[in-house]
Amino acid sequence: MSKASAATAQNEQVQQYYGQTLQGSHDLQTNACCTDDAMPQYLKPILSNIHDEVMMRYYGCGLVSPEQLLGTRILDLGSGSGRDCYALAQLVGEQGEVIGVDMTDEQLDVANRHIEYHQQKFGYQQPNTQFKKGYLEQLDLLDLAPNSFDVIVSNCVINLCSDKAAVLKHAFDLLKPGGELYFSDVYANKRVQKDLVDDPLLYGECLSGALYWNDFINLAKAAGFTDPRLVEDRPITVDNPMLQEKIKHIDFYSATYRLFKLPELESHCEDYGQAVIYQGTIEHHPHAFTLDKHHHIETGKVFPVCGNTWRMLHDTRFAPHFTFIGNFDTHYGIYADCGTSLPFDQSSAVNSGGGGCC
Ligand SMILES: C[S@@+](CC[C@H](N)C(=O)[O-])C[C@H]1O[C@@H](n2cnc3c(N)ncnc32)[C@H](O)[C@@H]1O
Repeated sequence: MSKASAATAQNEQVQQYYGQTLQGSHDLQTNACCTDDAMPQYLKPILSNIHDEVMMRYYGCGLVSPEQLLGTRILDLGSGSGRDCYALAQLVGEQGEVIGVDMTDEQLDVANRHIEYHQQKFGYQQPNTQFKKGYLEQLDLLDLAPNSFDVIVSNCVINLCSDKAAVLKHAFDLLKPGGELYFSDVYANKRVQKDLVDDPLLYGECLSGALYWNDFINLAKAAGFTDPRLVEDRPITVDNPMLQEKIKHIDFYSATYRLFKLPELESHCEDYGQAVIYQGTIEHHPHAFTLDKHHHIETGKVFPVCGNTWRMLHDTRFAPHFTFIGNFDTHYGIYADCGTSLPFDQSSAVNSGGGGCC
């Protein structure tokens, strides 16, 4: 089978799984699907505005709700029944816009069926959400202008894509400079062997298509996202004993990364003696701003940063909320070792005997 026909067959298999095999979140065999336990308080009323049918067919693995979205233009890759799109539609407000792309008719049908319901529920004059049918590997074939999105999100989808490098490259092209790809997906602590990738159930369940985390980091960098930042992660546990047996030698994690389109970022964290002060002015985040797992920036405190972090705050929509100290005139050496070990918390990974969601 040629590479192209193998990719088509894989997409058809995934369409079948999400269009017909699964009827709702309860049909999933793993806990990749996030419980709402760790949901920030402000998101609860937002989710309660979303139609039951949309909620029932939610298959995401994380929370794709970055900060400071009012007025922004967002693209959701693999939007499914539209849960995240309809949540984001409230956060961007009536002047913002959300576009979802998915390849599966049954998922798009649910999403499209409730456009008007949500417009009325949110009290908007016009809908600010639309859905397009398409393959994420061929986003360039859709009517989407390059450099036109402030934020791209995706929730438990890229692991299902046959050409992950192409998806990341398209996302990079579609983002405005300073925009970010903020997405949750599944990763493995080692490369998944081919016989498991070829298993339709393991693949459909978002496990065996998962990238080994370091392959993902290298793909992201090759697509132009020079300094991927891990926001949060949790181990995935598998309830089905037959699946568990097949994959018990691999640890899977659900992780949320933010990838900024900032061409000036450097390959390593370099020290220019810079610092920032968060003003506490981002809505819902008065006490601190969390850029990523290693940068929890408390309001009012002088917070030393490397050159890349400085740019992620200074050259993006977050800039008005920070005071910036320093510049790039003097280099003081390497800031920190960016690390080559597993970035995820291992304490409750499947193979270390634990469990837990979110
Ligand atoms: C696990 S579901 C997640 C859906 C949605 N993000 C959510 O959180 O409910 C994966 C979705 O990605 C879509 N998908 C998978 N591969 C795709 C591809 N190559 N192009 C477009 N959509 C794809 C599927 O049709 C399915 O709706």
